[in-house]
Amino acid sequence: MAAMKIQSVRGMNDIGIEDSPLWRYIESHAKKVFDAYGFVELRTPVLESTALFKRGVGEATDIVEKEMYTFEDRNGESLSLRPEGTAATVRAVLENSWLRANPVLKLFYIAPMFRHERPQKGRYRQFYQLGVEMFGPAGARADIEVLALQYLLFNNLGLQDVELRLSSVGCETCRPEYKKMLVEILTPQKDHLCEDCQRRLETNPMRILDCKVEGCKKIAKNLPAMVDHLCEICEPHFNEVRDGLVALEIPFKVDPSIVRGLDYYNRTAFEFVCTSEKLGAQATISGGGRYDKLVEDLGGPATPAVGFAAGIERLTILLEEVKDKLKTYVDICFINADEAGKVKTLQLCQMLRSRGIRAEMDLDNKSFKAQMKRANKLEARYVMILGQSEIDNNVAILKNMETGEQEDILLTQIEQELKDRFPKSVNFKL
Ligand code: HAM
Repeated sequence: MAAMKIQSVRGMNDIGIEDSPLWRYIESHAKKVFDAYGFVELRTPVLESTALFKRGVGEATDIVEKEMYTFEDRNGESLSLRPEGTAATVRAVLENSWLRANPVLKLFYIAPMFRHERPQKGRYRQFYQLGVEMFGPAGARADIEVLALQYLLFNNLGLQDVELRLSSVGCETCRPEYKKMLVEILTPQKDHLCEDCQRRLETNPMRILDCKVEGCKKIAKNLPAMVDHLCEICEPHFNEVRDGLVALEIPFKVDPSIVRGLDYYNRTAFEFVCTSEKLGAQATISGGGRYDKLVEDLGGPATPAVGFAAGIERLTILLEEVKDKLKTYVDICFINADEAGKVKTLQLCQMLRSRGIRAEMDLDNKSFKAQMKRANKLEARYVMILGQSEIDNNVAILKNMETGEQEDILLTQIEQELKDRFPKSVNFKL
């Protein structure tokens, strides 16, 4: 009986040979942009103490309440697979005391996150985020920098139909007043709210603003907006962010329904959303904002912070048509008709590869015909034929596969000839 095949875990995907070039394209663009803005890479463990996310993300959030992969390890300690990167970043920053020497600390990550959500297009249980976290500056320029970075990245990637939706969720001065007002208005209409929102009325009334249930949406439309009830610190901050975006010609829409699903935000909150149908129900490409209290809440010194994270799977769905442009080619494929020339081929391949040239050779004693077939399949730009008859004539044959032209290269000068003819790979643009 054949052994039963073991399948991958639901909602967790392999990033296979068809997809990895696009992932590389996205990640290399992201790293270039992160470099230009001075963000340094941080890699944290996938497992953290459950308490970090309870305290960092918030006990009453969907993520902590329903979506975390939590288990006890062999010592009975409660651990969770990280559902997001911000709390883990703050933990690492404090544990390593990086704030002391870096009054402005800029970090980026590209890493897998885990949430036990219902899988669908654009929503998975293991997914990757690329994101940044900036610690130190309280001013609006930091928010503008984080927004401008995303705008540049999405432009560089060639994304279309992307819209920035911007809001402010206030601070501990103006938000309680605003929440009170919401509760006063909503309590008499409580029965018309969905079950979740009835609960939210007590735990987090602002989440009612982004409820997707039609009845709640209708009610939310007529509610006062937080951005119209900001305090004397939050309001000018919000205005400065908007002015900065205008100065940089970054289009945006003020959208008071952006309240975010994590508890740590204050002032600026935003999402970049895809306005075409391509992402279906999961239209949010990235989200983030300011979280000035989180460092303190996790036991550190009062430190303002701002950041964002984008879902890489969602970016790949939007960039499907870029895949064709990412094809790579073999620069040169060596063909050996017989044993003679194999050692020379081995040496030439190594020399070319050490210079970044993509060179291939026969690894399996295949026939001349089979080797030519493979060179064609690999779309080799050139083939070099090197066998006994070529050695007897002190030449190797170099064939341009595009034009069909052939020339003889003197074996005594072959290293230099190859160096001159292949100064860089055809794949160099990547
Ligand atoms: P978030 O809005 O929960 O924010 O996630 C950010 C992005 O991750 C989303 O816009 C989406 O593209 C992607 N994403 C989230 N859940 C899934 C999923 N189940 N499957 C696929 N993609 C998903 C945060 O995580 C915050 N830590 C962002 C942040 C950084 N705020 C400040 N700094």
